[in-house]
This record gives sequence, structure tokens and C-alpha cells, in this order.
Amino acid sequence: MERLVQGTRVLQVDSAHPEPEIIDQAAALIRSGDVVAFPTETVYGLGASALDGAAVGRIFEAKGRPNDNPLIVHIAERSQLSAVVREVPAVAERLIDLFWPGPLTLVMPKHPDVAEAVTCGLETVGVRMPSHMVARSLIQAAGVPVAAPSANRSGRPSPTAAEHVVEDLAGHIPMVLDGGETGVGVESTVVDLTVTPPMLLRPGGVTLEQLREAVGAVDVAAAINGMEAGAGAIPRSPGMKYKHYAPQAPLILVTGPVHPMQEKIRDLTMEYQEEGKRVGILCGAESRGVYLASVVLEYGARTDLAGVASDLFSTLRAFDRHGVDVILAEGVPVEGMGLAIMNRLRRAAAGRVVEV
Ligand code: TXA
Ligand code: MG
Repeated sequence: MERLVQGTRVLQVDSAHPEPEIIDQAAALIRSGDVVAFPTETVYGLGASALDGAAVGRIFEAKGRPNDNPLIVHIAERSQLSAVVREVPAVAERLIDLFWPGPLTLVMPKHPDVAEAVTCGLETVGVRMPSHMVARSLIQAAGVPVAAPSANRSGRPSPTAAEHVVEDLAGHIPMVLDGGETGVGVESTVVDLTVTPPMLLRPGGVTLEQLREAVGAVDVAAAINGMEAGAGAIPRSPGMKYKHYAPQAPLILVTGPVHPMQEKIRDLTMEYQEEGKRVGILCGAESRGVYLASVVLEYGARTDLAGVASDLFSTLRAFDRHGVDVILAEGVPVEGMGLAIMNRLRRAAAGRVVEV
């Protein structure tokens, strides 16, 4: 099935067995120097040939992305790696064996053939091999490594369904491959392997615990725990300094033990309602019935953090449709996938965090 939204073609594709004739149309766009949005197991990506600087420029333009925030290069086969990186550190081999294909991006020394525009002039490049069949077939059919950031307007929550891509980018890109909802729901984990020990730059689909079990010590970049880089500081991962994941209404993140956290959110709800504001609450399924607000949306059970990750961005986007003035969000424990979830919620809150 195909539909047209403001000139953007949205093509349905089977996520387990992608139809070659559909993949070929998307691959032809990439080969011709254009961009196409496609599903991965984490979020939808907006791809272009990583070897073509002008094509990569189209990605930045469509997203409104600051031009000092580098892109991740996606490959379909281990053999493509030597075209993207200059050398593969020993620690990379182990991580590749364990986690590729999958939601892990490895930062390594950049190969000169990768367009400058991909890495924004950095000497390093982030690479990953996605496990989603549509992504892999597309990269294979295109015959080139594919640079792809998340397929959202810069600053918005990452897209976990084709509809989110359409919301943000219809009219700005020629094609979206609609392979249904993505699974993991938060982006890949980004690890810098050019330093010893390796440094976690962005928590994601592969947990810090899994990384440490695989390779021993792993450092954690300061910005991940909510600290924004101070004035003049050089963020390790350029993406960490920008506004991100924001729904239209301001979001206030409340963290702490469950009962005081709920109590605080109830107090804040009343305060905002007294100001005449329409309050939205983002909470765990366990808090069902606890809040009296205009809009209460659940991100799933707090006991199932993988499930929370999977629904997080679509729930954030859903608040836009409800037209709330402020969103109060419950935090989750910072363990396993909780680290990635809290990182996204903190960034969506842009500093508005209440710890009880
Ligand atoms: O799951 C994902 O990673 C998705 C899908 C589409 O693969 N992609 C994604 O890309 O999330 P993007 O552009 O939204 O986020 C890439 C992150 C940014 O924080 C960027 O700063 C960081 O990776 N990054 C990319 N290359 C880097 C490098 N050479 N050094 C440090 N950080 C890098
Ligand atoms: Mg992104």
C-alpha cells in the first residue's frame, strides 16, 4: 500500500520479509543522492549515502539539525566496516560479536571515504549494524554505508512509527518506508572506543550492565546523568548539548521513591490547576487511579522497563494531541534500560527536574 502526504510517498513494507521491489525504490533514492526514512529496531532513521556529502547535507536540512552534531553510519555486513573505519580496536571485536546486529553504536577512527558532513569534521565515526530486516535490506540494496540520524525534526521525540516521521517531515523528504512500530523504542547505545576504558556517550538499547559484563570497565560521560555541559565545556558527544525529545508542552520530571514522588506530582497538579493550566501526567501503570488530571497517559509497568522504553516516545508525542499546558512525568529507577529512559526524560525536561 502506498499513500502520498504533502508530496512524501509513504510505502508499507513487510518488516520481517521486506518486498524487494519496495526496497529497490528506496535504495535507488539513496544511490541517486537523496534521502529516505526507514525503520530500525530502535527508532526510524533518515538515511543517505555516507560517502556522499551533498546527500548527507539533505539530512541536516530536512531535520533542521545543527551542523556540528555528527550522524551514525549504518552497515549491513561486517565486511562493510573496513570502508567506514580506519582501524578496529580489539575491544570492538568483542562488542561486535556480542551485540551486532543490534542497538549498539561504536565510535572508532574514521575512514577518509566517509563524507566530512557525516562526522561534522571529527576524526571519529559512530557505526552500527541494525538488526531490523528493512534497514538491513535497504543498506544492502543501496550498496553503500548509510548515514542516518533519527527521522524526527531536530529537538522532537524520536519516531517509533512511520506516522511520527510523517508528522515531522512530510513535505521535506521524498519517501518513508512504513514497517510498523519499532521494537526497542529508544535509540542505540553509543560507546566511544577511541579512549581507554571505553566511554558510554549515550545509554540506549544495550545496557551499561551488559557492556561492563562484556568488556569490564566502562566510563560514563558526565552529561548522561543529567549534568549539562557547562559554558565552554566540550561535550564528548556533540548531540548531548542540544534540546531534545521535547513534546510541545514543557515537561517537569519528578524522581524519587514511588510514594513521595506521587505525592509531589499530586501537589504540583493542584498548583498548576489553580493557575488554570491543563495538566498532563506521564506515569507508570502502577499509578493508575492515583492522579486527577486532564490527561493521564501511562508508559507501561515500571517493573517492565523494556516495555516503558518501547512506548516512551509515542506517549510523549501523544500529549501534543491532547493540548496540555504542562506535563508532569514520573521517573523510573536508573538500572538496566532505566538509564536510557531517565536520560531521555531528563533531556525532555531540559533542566526542570524535581528530586523528592
Ligand atoms: O538508534 C539509533 O542510533 C538511531 C537509528 C536511526 O539508528 N539513530 C540515532 O541517530 O539516534 P542520532 O543522530 O539521532 O543520534 C546520534 C548520536 C548523537 O548524540 C551524536 O552526537 C552521536 O550519536 N555521535 C555520532 N557520531 C559521533 C562521534 N563520532 N563521536 C561522538 N558522538 C557521536
Ligand atoms: Mg536523534
